[in-house]
Amino acid sequence: MNRPVYIAAYHQSEFGKLMGMTVPDIIKTSVNQVCDSIKTDPAAIDVGSVGATCTYTLNQQGLLAGLMATVPGLAGKPIESVENACASGGQAVLSVIYKLLLGQGDVGIAVGFEKMRDHEGKMDGKLIGQALGVFSHPDERPGKVYIFPHIFAEVMADYMTRNGVTERDLAHVSCVEYGNGNNNPYAQMKKIKVSLDDCANIGDRNKYIIDGLPLKTYDCSQITDGYAAIIVATEAGLTKLGVAKADCVQIAGYAQATDSLLRADRDVLKAQGAVTAMNKAYAMAGLTSADVNVAEVHDCFTVMGAIGTEVIGKASFGQGAKYWVDGKAGVDGECGINTSGGLIAKGHPVGATGVAMIGWSAWQLLGKVPPALQVKNAKAAATFNIGGPICASVCTVLKRAV
Ligand SMILES: CC(C)(COP(=O)(O)OP(=O)(O)OC[C@H]1O[C@@H](n2cnc3c(N)ncnc32)[C@H](O)[C@@H]1OP(=O)(O)O)[C@@H](O)C(=O)NCCC(=O)NCCS
Repeated sequence: MNRPVYIAAYHQSEFGKLMGMTVPDIIKTSVNQVCDSIKTDPAAIDVGSVGATCTYTLNQQGLLAGLMATVPGLAGKPIESVENACASGGQAVLSVIYKLLLGQGDVGIAVGFEKMRDHEGKMDGKLIGQALGVFSHPDERPGKVYIFPHIFAEVMADYMTRNGVTERDLAHVSCVEYGNGNNNPYAQMKKIKVSLDDCANIGDRNKYIIDGLPLKTYDCSQITDGYAAIIVATEAGLTKLGVAKADCVQIAGYAQATDSLLRADRDVLKAQGAVTAMNKAYAMAGLTSADVNVAEVHDCFTVMGAIGTEVIGKASFGQGAKYWVDGKAGVDGECGINTSGGLIAKGHPVGATGVAMIGWSAWQLLGKVPPALQVKNAKAAATFNIGGPICASVCTVLKRAV
């Protein structure tokens, strides 16, 4: 059964520090706030899904679905917790869509979140390195302390060598994104101003993270607390919620694909699963990359801003960094990519990220983002969310509902 599905509502916290909020508080609050945004009662929701990654390791909490079911109106409904590393949020949205396609209801909620900092907003880098490191293959961990920064530092070095790209070229990604983040009230780095030189050169704050590899502080996404929630509905669901279709965005294409967790097994610079998922999503939407002028891609590190640009089809393999250098990814460029600030400046509350990419893109298509970040004539959007070393990919294509 293929039924059109729409984003009836989107809500997110400010990304950064949730201080004393506990995991039960976060899940409850995210459900209630997204429902409040369209003045609906959680009882109107038929199915749910919640994605997060570090709850066992950092928060000592499992069975998140049961926490969602503590919200009055949700008990006894089909709700599941999903985990696909940093693609958990995108996976939660897909999980809800699949339930709706199976006819289990007409209204679903997807929540993604992460609580990575303590109640004072501080973080333990080594502990987080370990907590995120479990999402790599054990054979690829020895000799690495900060496992993902280390893996992506190697990916960055490979990308630069193969494609003749410089550290300064990739610094354009972070420089553009910090600039966007400065205009996004939800962004963790909204107050941090950096120039291209700050991002490209070694300085007080910008240091090499792993000896002998090119990754620097400003190439990295943030350690972030945050939550994001989407209400997805069928046409009947929109009617039930009293939300006009004209105020909605259609999730017109969506797909998921997973490659081997072993990076050594494959060419991650041309990740097969990512490209397959993106192309399936375009085909399902009946659109091509030429039709989208808004995108949110998974820039966990600057090299992924470049590779993400290639995956969404805006540049050929090896040419993604150039797209940013040439200014084509800016708000006024050919396709506004990561106008939210991306994971680098908006922040990366791991489980929330995939939900937030879709939510922000929907706001772009509805003309609801701050004017300085609004893409003119926003037509259609692509999102590309990954987990692990470009391993699990969730891609969507969004367009205004008609
Ligand atoms: C890159 C990284 C190592 C930086 O760590 P860090 O420097 O300890 O980062 P912090 O977040 O504690 O930032 C330190 C402070 O500097 C501030 N800061 C950042 N840039 C600044 C600037 N240009 N000027 C002034 N202050 C700045 C931050 O706001 C923060 O302030 P706060 O402590 O008041 O909140 C860390 O963010 C990281 O590991 N990122 C990768 C995450 C990851 O692997 N995710 C998974 C991807 S697959």
